[in-house]
Amino acid sequence: MKANRRIFLQTLSAASALVATKSLASPLGFNYIPNLKRISPNDKIRIATIGMGIQGNYDTIAALRNPDVELVAVADLYNGRLEHAKTAFGKDKSLFATRDYREVLARPDVDAVLVVTPDHWHDHITIAALKAGKHVYCEKPMVQHINEGKAVIDAWKKSGKTMQVGSQRISSASFQEAKRLVQAGEIGAINYIESNNDRFNAIGAWNYSVPPDASPATLDWDRFLGDAPKRPFDANRFFRWRNYKDYGTGVAGDLFIHLITGVHFVTNTLGPTRVYSSGNLAYWKEGRDVPDVMTSIMDYPKTEQHDAFQMVLRVNFANAGKISNVTRIIGNEGQIEFSEDNLILTKKKLPIAPGYGNYDSFFTFTEPVQQEFVRQYDAKYPPETRTAEPVKEIRFDAPKTDDPHAQHFADFFKNVREGSQGTVEDPVFGFRAAAPVLASNKSYFEKKVIHWDPVTMTEGDPAAQISKKAVATRSKRT
Ligand SMILES: NC(=O)c1ccc[n+]([C@@H]2O[C@H](COP(=O)([O-])OP(=O)(O)OC[C@H]3O[C@@H](n4cnc5c(N)ncnc54)[C@H](O)[C@@H]3O)[C@@H](O)[C@H]2O)c1
Repeated sequence: MKANRRIFLQTLSAASALVATKSLASPLGFNYIPNLKRISPNDKIRIATIGMGIQGNYDTIAALRNPDVELVAVADLYNGRLEHAKTAFGKDKSLFATRDYREVLARPDVDAVLVVTPDHWHDHITIAALKAGKHVYCEKPMVQHINEGKAVIDAWKKSGKTMQVGSQRISSASFQEAKRLVQAGEIGAINYIESNNDRFNAIGAWNYSVPPDASPATLDWDRFLGDAPKRPFDANRFFRWRNYKDYGTGVAGDLFIHLITGVHFVTNTLGPTRVYSSGNLAYWKEGRDVPDVMTSIMDYPKTEQHDAFQMVLRVNFANAGKISNVTRIIGNEGQIEFSEDNLILTKKKLPIAPGYGNYDSFFTFTEPVQQEFVRQYDAKYPPETRTAEPVKEIRFDAPKTDDPHAQHFADFFKNVREGSQGTVEDPVFGFRAAAPVLASNKSYFEKKVIHWDPVTMTEGDPAAQISKKAVATRSKRT
C-alpha cells in the first residue's frame, strides 16, 4: 500500500465507520459524503464489482486490463457466483465476497464500484454508491424506467464523483472513426439510421443456463426482487431475468441501447422527440412477458447538430430465415455500414442532370414534344452535369490492438484519477441514450406514441403542453 493511500484510509476510517453503520441500518438512507478524494496518479484504483454474473465477469476482466487497477471486493446474490469469483479473481480465495452490496459500499478501501446487476437494481445501487463516496461504472441501460433517470443524475452531480455508463462500443476505434466521418460531412446530412439484430437460438434469446443448485438457500431471492412485485422463488426469473419486465428492459434495453448510444456519440444528438414501437411474442413462449419480435421507430428532429432523421431498430429472436444483420447510418451523400469491429464508408453523389427515358414519362409524349424536351434538356444540362462521380468505398479496419471494453474503463479510470466528471458516457449522456429505449418499451406496452423532450429530459408532448396552457389561459380570461 502506498503511503498516501494509508494516510487517506486512516483519516477516512471514522467517516466510513459512520457510513457502514448507517448504511447497514438503513439501506438507502445515508447522507452524501461528497468528493472524498482524487486518486493519486501513482496509486492503484481499487474496484469492487456488484453483480458477478456473465457481464460482471467480463467487465471485471476488462477493467483489470488497465494498469494500476485492483479488485478488492465483490457482491452477488448467488453463493455459486461468489465462490466462482473468489476462485477466478481472489488470490488464495482471499477476495472479500458478500451477498450484501451495502457491505461493499461501506468499505473504505473501495474507490469505485461496477454496478452489473439486473436493470431494476441499477438506480438504487448507483445512487447508494455515489452517496457513499464511490465512483461508479454502471452497466447499460442506466435505469430501468424513464422516471428514474433524473435521480441518478442529481446524485451524481451532488456527489462530485466520476460516473461512466457501460455501452463500451462507443470507445471502439470504429465508432471513433464513424464520428470523425460524420462530423467531417463525408456522408452528407444523415436522414435514416437502421439496425436489425436477429437471432434464432435459445441462448441468443436469453434462456441462459440455470445452475442445478439454485434454491432460496443458495441465493437471496428477496433481495433480488428489490422494488419488483413480491412473488415465490422462481429460478428462471433469477437467472433469466431479461425475459421479465419486472427486472429487465427487453430487447430495447438490451440491444437497441448499444446502437442508440453509438448514434448519439457519432451525431452529437440529444435524442428523439417521438418513439413508437410494435411487436409481439412470437416463439419463446416459455413464460416470458417481453416481446421477441419488436420494431421501434424514432424521430430525431432537426437541431443545430444535425438534420432531421429517422431511426428504425428491429430485433427478431424468432428469425428462422436467413439472418443478415446490418447497422447503417445513411446520409444524402453516402452511408456508413458497421460490421463486427470495422466499417465501410460508401460515398455516392447524384449528377446534376436528372436524366430521362427508360422507365419515365418521356416515351408517352408526342414526337414533336419529345424533340422540344430534348432541345431544352441539352441546353440546360451540358455533358459535364450528366455523369456522377464514381461511387467510392472506403473500408476502415480497427487496429488489432483495439480493445473497446478496456478503453471504456480506461476513460473512466482516467477521469477518476483526475477528479473529473467528464467521462465519454456520463449519466446525462447515459440517460439521454436510455430514455429512447425505455420509451420504446412504454410505447409497446401502452400501445401509443411516446413524446420525449431530449433537451429537458422529460416525457410528454411539448406541443400538447403548450396548447393545454393556452386553453387554461383562455378559460381564465373568460
Ligand atoms: N455492456 C454490455 O455489452 C452488456 C452485456 C451484457 C449485459 N450487460 C448488462 O449487465 C448487467 C448484468 O447482466 P448479466 O448478463 O451479467 O446478468 P446475470 O444474470 O448474468 O448477472 C447478474 C448478477 O447480478 C446479481 N445481483 C442481482 N441483484 C443483485 C443485488 N441487489 N446485489 C448484488 N448482486 C445482485 C445476480 O446474483 C447475478 O449473478 C445488465 O444490466 C445488462 O444489461 C451489458
